[in-house]
Amino acid sequence: MLRSHLALCLITLALTAAPSTGCSRQSEPPAAPSAPAPKPDTAVKATPAATSAKALPSPDAYAGSERCGECHEDEHSAWSQDWHSRALSQATPKFVVGDFRDAHFKGDSSEAWMSRREDRFFMRTLGLDGNLAEYPVQWVVGGKRMQDPVTVTADGRWQVLPVYFHVTGKGEWVDYSEQKQGRLSPDHPFFWANFARSAQHACLDCHTTGLDVRYDRAAHQWATTFADPGVACESCHGPGARHVETQDPKDIVHPKHLPPELGLAVCGQCHGPRRTLFPMLDASHRFRPGRRYEDYYQPMVLLVGGERSGDYFEDGRPSTSSFEYQALTQSQCHMKGGATCLSCHTAPHVEHAPNEIQLPEGAPAGVSAGTATCQGCHPDIFAEGKRHTHHTAPAAQDCIACHMPPIVSGVLDQLLDHTMDVPVPENTVKHGIPNACNACHTHAKQKPEVMAKALARWWPEAKQRQQRRLRLADAFVTKVAAKSRPFLEAVLADPSEAPSLRGAAALYLARRFRQEATPALRSTLGGAKDPLLRSQIVEALGLAKAREAADELVPLMKDPSLWVRQEAILTLAQLGDARALPELEALTRQPETSGLVMPHTLLGHLSLRRKDVPKATREFERAVDLQPYNAELLVLLADIYTAQGNLAKARERLEDAVRFAPKNQGARKRLAALRDR
Ligand code: HEC
Ligand code: HEC
Ligand code: HEC
Ligand code: HEC
Ligand code: HEC
Ligand code: HEC
Ligand code: HEC
Ligand code: HEC
Repeated sequence: MLRSHLALCLITLALTAAPSTGCSRQSEPPAAPSAPAPKPDTAVKATPAATSAKALPSPDAYAGSERCGECHEDEHSAWSQDWHSRALSQATPKFVVGDFRDAHFKGDSSEAWMSRREDRFFMRTLGLDGNLAEYPVQWVVGGKRMQDPVTVTADGRWQVLPVYFHVTGKGEWVDYSEQKQGRLSPDHPFFWANFARSAQHACLDCHTTGLDVRYDRAAHQWATTFADPGVACESCHGPGARHVETQDPKDIVHPKHLPPELGLAVCGQCHGPRRTLFPMLDASHRFRPGRRYEDYYQPMVLLVGGERSGDYFEDGRPSTSSFEYQALTQSQCHMKGGATCLSCHTAPHVEHAPNEIQLPEGAPAGVSAGTATCQGCHPDIFAEGKRHTHHTAPAAQDCIACHMPPIVSGVLDQLLDHTMDVPVPENTVKHGIPNACNACHTHAKQKPEVMAKALARWWPEAKQRQQRRLRLADAFVTKVAAKSRPFLEAVLADPSEAPSLRGAAALYLARRFRQEATPALRSTLGGAKDPLLRSQIVEALGLAKAREAADELVPLMKDPSLWVRQEAILTLAQLGDARALPELEALTRQPETSGLVMPHTLLGHLSLRRKDVPKATREFERAVDLQPYNAELLVLLADIYTAQGNLAKARERLEDAVRFAPKNQGARKRLAALRDR
């Protein structure tokens, strides 16, 4: 049994695929080398200055929005009217917007009965055991367009109930997961009561402030705390307990005074799904405002783990809401003009137009607030007026209409494309990707082909700018992937292309063309300045099994980016390069990196290969401490214990695996076999 596991793909073990959910996804919460925790020995060696500093709360301590409101009353009252504050609320009549007046919903596989008794809300629906039961709704998420009810289970998991209330439109209950995933039975990972749908794992990081989730492996119990439900002051200003004491501006983050890219990270931490270096349960390695995005996160673009994400069009633009960071960082406005969210949006507590758009100042009459945001950087186009837009209808003068069309799906609502592109109707013809012209021109006669011709007639210079998305679509297209190699190589090699798209191209090249991808990957690696791109090229070289690139990877084991370091070490170790081993050992032992899951997992595998079972067990157990829900590792551990005759421990690990992944066949079969013994 042990031997069969040696062949297991190391990479799939290390990465858990992110759950696909109502609005957005993440794999794992963050990490970074910054903000060292106070050393335990400071008390002993304290100088007088250190003593007075010690009396202050840690820079990582949260105060909660109530405290901020004591001095910043105006901000507090304005914020509490804003949707950010409603990102998570207690299910009280004040916050619940869904219809609980004995309402009923029936989908393909789900059915639910909603009811209210005094001030409490309930949903009756199918549970994990296949029986109907009534679940109290303790929390609700959102409420502007959609509101998701949450119930807390006896073991402390927060589970998102199966049926959501769609506020906009008709105001009705919907089962969005079923629409996206198909019929859901209790043994499906995305059945509402399963771990993949737990809010701790999939939602709370972006819907609370100061989240700290713990799991007790022995008691199988979750404990969840936060400074505030919803997106409160300290999500954007950083932990503020010390500032509350000192009132010193130095002790709090002012997003507008940060360098622009750090200001972008404040919003980007939530407005786009991402992978995190350190696992979900590690609150000490969570991103804080003022820090660098790339030290904690890798934005998910086109791929989720090894899978093609359903949340992107073929040309690399997000097709689903809450991916504004991924969209904007692809735009020329960001890449050439340095535009960040705060170029157009403002704080939730500052007076603003809808969607937190800055109030227009000095904009020509009749210009919408959205369009006014473009004026500062594109005054020449404003001056051109109809010469640029070629339309007479007022609606078709709006920059947003052609450059931020509402083609992004927000569950059941249409949101704006934040890639700020020029329309490319040819891509609609070739790949079915929506374009801005046809967002208005919906008449049967106004086919995308017709729009493409009209566009070429009115905007002859457009061809050049359209090349970019045409090439991206030819690169990422799945239907004729066999022909995509020259396009992928061109995207990868283009220094003016967005690093996230070049990185995705590197991974696609390796997945689709294996060893043949190696020359293009190697020739781009040396000039790859962006850490995301570097780390994805290294990952791609690993996928392509490019042993010949080993010497180029060795210096990257000392890269300033921990993402790149980790990737280089893992890749070299998997390629069997002896130079990686001491570095891998160091990653698992050094305090600042010992919380990374993948190095422990890989070291466990390499130890197994060398038949050092005690060490393999130690490393796998450590990885499971960090990621107690990693079913594949639990099964592997069970096999090791079984081989050693420790059946009790094997059974425990398997029961844990089934607890988190009820459908895991490996775990179920082994459990059944153990029962027979
Ligand atoms: C006891 C009163 C008090 C409390 C409580 C308080 N602040 Fe302040 N805060 C101040 C004062 C006073 C200033 C202005 C300092 C100045 O302008 O020199 C300030 C300034 C700020 C600034 C601007 C910083 C800058 O660089 O200009 C921000 C942002 C801020 N506070 C956020 C918060 C947040 C978030 C909280 C809750 C965690 C909070 N404050 C709690 C008194 C307080
Ligand atoms: C901790 C996560 C988090 C951070 C940080 C964050 N947001 Fe949000 N944002 C959300 C969530 C969640 C919602 C949806 C809230 C709801 O509707 O209940 C939202 C909603 C919005 C909206 C729609 C608001 C409306 O009125 O409907 C805008 C615009 C927005 N955010 C912009 C920003 C900008 C700009 C920043 C940075 C200054 C930022 N956000 C920081 C999570 C976050
Ligand atoms: C979604 C992110 C977000 C949240 C939540 C948020 N702020 Fe802010 N805050 C900002 C941004 C962005 C600015 C800078 C706005 C600007 O200067 O245009 C700001 C500025 C401030 C300032 C400085 C104002 C000034 O005149 O310079 C204070 C004080 C402040 N916020 C307090 C708070 C308090 C208190 C809360 C909670 C009740 C809070 N903020 C919640 C994003 C946020
Ligand atoms: C990576 C951060 C992130 C994660 C994780 C996340 N969300 Fe969100 N969510 C957002 C942002 C940001 C918005 C605001 C919409 C936008 O940006 O387009 C949002 C909006 C929503 C809304 C719409 C709110 C409204 O008022 O209309 C709902 C409902 C929601 N999320 C539920 C969830 C649930 C349930 C989960 C977990 C299964 C989840 N979200 C996970 C960031 C996140
Ligand atoms: C160049 C200007 C610009 C930039 C930069 C920008 N936005 Fe927007 N955003 C807009 C406009 C315009 C709207 C639509 C406002 C309206 O509805 O009137 C919008 C709408 C939104 C919405 C509401 C949902 C929707 O799409 O209708 C969210 C959420 C949002 N933006 C978040 C962000 C975040 C987060 C960033 C940074 C990653 C960002 N935006 C950067 C202009 C911008
Ligand atoms: C912070 C400055 C800034 C803001 C704000 C801004 N842009 Fe841009 N934008 C730029 C720069 C710089 C370029 C690159 C110009 C070039 O390539 O000639 C650009 C390029 C573009 C392009 C060409 C895209 C392409 O693929 O070549 C379009 C379209 C565009 N912007 C539309 C908008 C719209 C619409 C808005 C408002 C919603 C906006 N921009 C806001 C700076 C900005
Ligand atoms: C009716 C559709 C339409 C409207 C409305 C529109 N544009 Fe454009 N825009 C286009 C097309 C098509 C192109 C491509 C032509 C080209 O590359 O010169 C383009 C190109 C651009 C470019 C890149 C080319 C350049 O000259 O820099 C920018 C920037 C831009 N638009 C900004 C804006 C702004 C700002 C507004 C609002 C004042 C706006 N557009 C309104 C259709 C439109
Ligand atoms: C905001 C909605 C809107 C968008 C976006 C839009 N149009 Fe139009 N278009 C109109 C309206 C309304 C008219 C008729 C009056 C006028 O000229 O403004 C029109 C007229 C036209 C006409 C004249 C012939 C006819 O079919 O009526 C052409 C050609 C055209 N648009 C092409 C385009 C192209 C190409 C794009 C994309 C670059 C585009 N439009 C984007 C609304 C839109």
